[in-house]
Amino acid sequence: MQLETVDRIIQQHHADKTALIAMLQDVQSEFTYLPQEALVYLSRTIEVPLSRAYSLATFYRAFSLKPKGRYSIAVCMGTACHVKAAVKILEKFERLLHIKTGQTTPDLNFGLEEVRCLGCCGLAPVVTVGPDLYGKVMLPKVDQIVKQYQKQGARDAKT
Ligand code: FES
Repeated sequence: MQLETVDRIIQQHHADKTALIAMLQDVQSEFTYLPQEALVYLSRTIEVPLSRAYSLATFYRAFSLKPKGRYSIAVCMGTACHVKAAVKILEKFERLLHIKTGQTTPDLNFGLEEVRCLGCCGLAPVVTVGPDLYGKVMLPKVDQIVKQYQKQGARDAKT
């Protein structure tokens, strides 16, 4: 873990205790999760109780204490998506990635989770990969999505 990165984030926020949530967001976006070492260092440096950092980290769903995949796949399981066979979509991602929902691939490339209504039910079934949204996803599209991000990951790793 690079504590210099955490240090940089702290400096960007002028070590301001009131910016703790923003700092946690930045740490999460750098590491894809909130490493324990980072939380300890952050709370010590800006002098807030570690328990405060942990309570925020566990309260907000956007934060994770476990590594998330570089590409975080979310399959909507809200009612509209559920009736359009979202379960089969989710199962196919699990089969292709060899992980269960809630897990991350060992290479940390993909994380898989189910979410409740994403607010675009007209596009059901809906899948998001990070900021990208896919609507009316059919089973063959699942293969395409995985391949697309595997390729993108390989390209990103080279640069
Ligand atoms: S139920 Fe899936 S987007 Fe609303």
